[in-house]
Amino acid sequence: MAVNSNQPRDSFGSKFGIIAAAAGSAVGLGNIWKFPYEAGVNGGGAFLFIYLIFVLLIGVSVMVAELTIGRAGQRNAIGSFKALAPGKPWFLVGMMGIAAAFMIFAFYGAVAGWTLEYIYQSIRNGFAGKSPEDLSQMFTEFTTNPARPIMWQTLFLIMTAGVVIAGVQKGIEKYSKILMPLLLLIILVLIVRSVTLPGAREGINFLFKPDFSKVTGHTIISALGQAFFSLSLGMGTIITYGSYIKKKENLLNTAVQVSLADTLIAVLAGLAIFPAVFAFGINPSEGPGLVFITLPNIFQQMPGGYVFSLMFFILLGIAALTSTISLLEVIVAYFSEELKMSRKRATLLAASGILFLGILCSLSQGPIAGFKIFGLNIWDFLDFTSTKIILPLGGLFIVIFVGFVLGRKRVTEELNNEGTLKARLLPVVMFLIRFVAPIAIALVFLNMIGILKIT
Ligand code: TRP
Repeated sequence: MAVNSNQPRDSFGSKFGIIAAAAGSAVGLGNIWKFPYEAGVNGGGAFLFIYLIFVLLIGVSVMVAELTIGRAGQRNAIGSFKALAPGKPWFLVGMMGIAAAFMIFAFYGAVAGWTLEYIYQSIRNGFAGKSPEDLSQMFTEFTTNPARPIMWQTLFLIMTAGVVIAGVQKGIEKYSKILMPLLLLIILVLIVRSVTLPGAREGINFLFKPDFSKVTGHTIISALGQAFFSLSLGMGTIITYGSYIKKKENLLNTAVQVSLADTLIAVLAGLAIFPAVFAFGINPSEGPGLVFITLPNIFQQMPGGYVFSLMFFILLGIAALTSTISLLEVIVAYFSEELKMSRKRATLLAASGILFLGILCSLSQGPIAGFKIFGLNIWDFLDFTSTKIILPLGGLFIVIFVGFVLGRKRVTEELNNEGTLKARLLPVVMFLIRFVAPIAIALVFLNMIGILKIT
């Protein structure tokens, strides 16, 4: 048990704090960087439609399952499984999650560091007068540089650690309550700019008019993978945050609200980006370079671009920060509760491990690009192992655990707060958790690792 087991466990202090922290985890680079380009290459509105279905049917139910484990277990991702299934191997699911947190933070933190460089470049007006080729070269030169990305990545990690050391309520909740409204405000300002550009309409059509001719097996796989990643599912983030939610709160509502908020922000990010992309006659299916190459090109041509560029990269940085906080907290909660370390020591130790892997990720873009594991460079290897293997596998075990191992009575009590809530959705969610989610996740997982070939 925890070192300070004589003190009450730290928890979120308010309903808004819970939503801000959990949505803060969910809303991240996945929403603002990845969702728009995934939608861009997968048929716009058609992708959005399929994505929404996955969020509602599978995302929400996996989130409910994670919240249930965390709040019933009252411990970190590993400890909660140990508390609920003593002497059984279920805690290994939590172990996989801790490993995934290190891996995801390593490459995610590298991109988070890039946002700081781009904030810096926005301030010094570094995109001005550059052609698309120049901007593309600028991006490549920066990301393959052996030192500069590491400097930013380290700074980002220090900011994250600063918040996590301060604690659940005085750190994570406090900063989420400031940063999330700010994020929403910035995104709304950017949307107003984007949709008022001449020719913006086409971008709005692209995002909302579904073109189902672009839908393939690949679209479906990408949409589910994206839903998992974007909602921070499958590795114990939501278990950990769930353990900080007080017994009087409604978990089903929380899961629905957080999932919808995350989806809303992804759509809003699309609304901030696509109208501007179309207004400047650029092809929306630019892929990963959309945000770091295409957008600077647009900003330096648009009226007021200096301010909007700065705002956009600050937005990206904020989104990344509340997510890296949640990734670090998964590890810190485990270190401090199960390995009985102080919070400070746990944070420093976790951050050192992340920094080591993170530096390898950064270097794998340039100097050590030739170093391959199973044919992948370090970055791609960590990305593949965590997001394509551990997250779906973790999600699968989590729904099976809640659906079949924990017991219907226990789950019902946790979700209707010992009978004090109506929880009308409960039978539907239980059905999704037990049958729909496991089958869908299993199919997608088998396809991803190449056993089934839908694409
Ligand atoms: N959800 C975040 C995003 O969309 C990333 C993230 C944070 C995450 N914590 C996670 C992804 C846990 C998977 C698991 O950018």
